[in-house]
Amino acid sequence: MLNNDQVLSLLGTINEPFLNKSLVELDAVKEISIKAEKKHVSVKIALLKTGTAEQMQIQTQIVQLLKQNGAETVGIRFTEFTEEEKSQFVQTEDGQDQSTLSLLDNKKVQFLAIASGKGGVGKSTVSVNLAVALARLGKKVGIIDADIYGFSVPDMMGITTRPVIRGERIIPVDRFGVKVISMGFFVEDNSPIIWRGPMLGKMLQQFFTEVEWGDLDYLLLDLPPGTGDVALDVHSMLPSCKEIIVTTPHPTASIVAARAGVMALKTDHEIIGVVENMSYFESKKTGEKEYVFGKGGGERLAKELQTTLLGQLPLQQPDWDEEDFAPSIYDKEHPTGKIYTSIAKQVVEKIVLNK
Ligand SMILES: Nc1ncnc2c1ncn2[C@@H]1O[C@H](COP(=O)(O)OP(=O)(O)OP(=O)(O)O)[C@@H](O)[C@H]1O
Ligand SMILES: [Mg+2]
Repeated sequence: MLNNDQVLSLLGTINEPFLNKSLVELDAVKEISIKAEKKHVSVKIALLKTGTAEQMQIQTQIVQLLKQNGAETVGIRFTEFTEEEKSQFVQTEDGQDQSTLSLLDNKKVQFLAIASGKGGVGKSTVSVNLAVALARLGKKVGIIDADIYGFSVPDMMGITTRPVIRGERIIPVDRFGVKVISMGFFVEDNSPIIWRGPMLGKMLQQFFTEVEWGDLDYLLLDLPPGTGDVALDVHSMLPSCKEIIVTTPHPTASIVAARAGVMALKTDHEIIGVVENMSYFESKKTGEKEYVFGKGGGERLAKELQTTLLGQLPLQQPDWDEEDFAPSIYDKEHPTGKIYTSIAKQVVEKIVLNK
């Protein structure tokens, strides 16, 4: 059963929705009480505003997190920060927090683009699951759905809310501990958008500069397919960006993916590794693996780009939880979820080693 410190450190992974800083950092955890014999945890949390949709969202987040970690029942009470506390926060906002103002210059944030040579190989699936896996490791993670024509990240993560706009700043949506921003949030009725060339770069620039990212370790970019405009913009805007290339196992797929890789190398973006997706189908009955899309593509590509094959993901949909629907996110304990954890660990290690 959880103890006080553990509850506190779990709550430290959750952000206050309006200030976008961790509950612990804001001293927002006002009470913790634990009834071990009943596996009951109750907490009192201060928010900037109560009785809001954001409160509902954070409530669900806290309940889930504590239940995942051993609580059987969870009680939460909310209160508002005192006027004195509030005035302190306002001061720090006006005091220009460096981490939010200069994301592009912030050396601490590691940008990580997920690229591929062609569409439909699972870039978005890999991006969202890698982001969630990094967050599960305790990292502070953001994701930009840079596929501004074919945005899919909000749907894949099962996001039903929109970012809050405060003053001139956009507060990203928090989902599974990942801060998410997508063009999909700013479009009515899912209607298609037509951008002219220069607009693309502007859009991305806005995502970097006008979004209140707060403190981040990693910012993932789910790139649109191919080696087009957006990929180029990313290359020029983020010289320190590192890349992960996604491919399918078919040998010709890896040749196409190599183009994305060559592009990364040309622009001096270091490639962290290759992820092979849809590698095989594993029969639930016999455990036998069938290599439906061929074999060897990932390994071949990794060799060609002189990098590592970080993982091979089988063909399989996540288990769907109707209550908290996120159609593309694999549970931590799902076999594919475990592969994502392993990929995330390698990514962390490789980045630490190469810094
Ligand atoms: N390992 C997998 N097993 C089963 N289905 C998968 C797997 N990986 C991806 N898919 C499915 O394949 C489709 C394409 O995946 P995804 O959208 O992630 O690819 P993408 O490379 O981002 O595509 P696009 O180029 O259109 O952006 C989705 O419907 C996704 O759910
Ligand atoms: Mg995609």
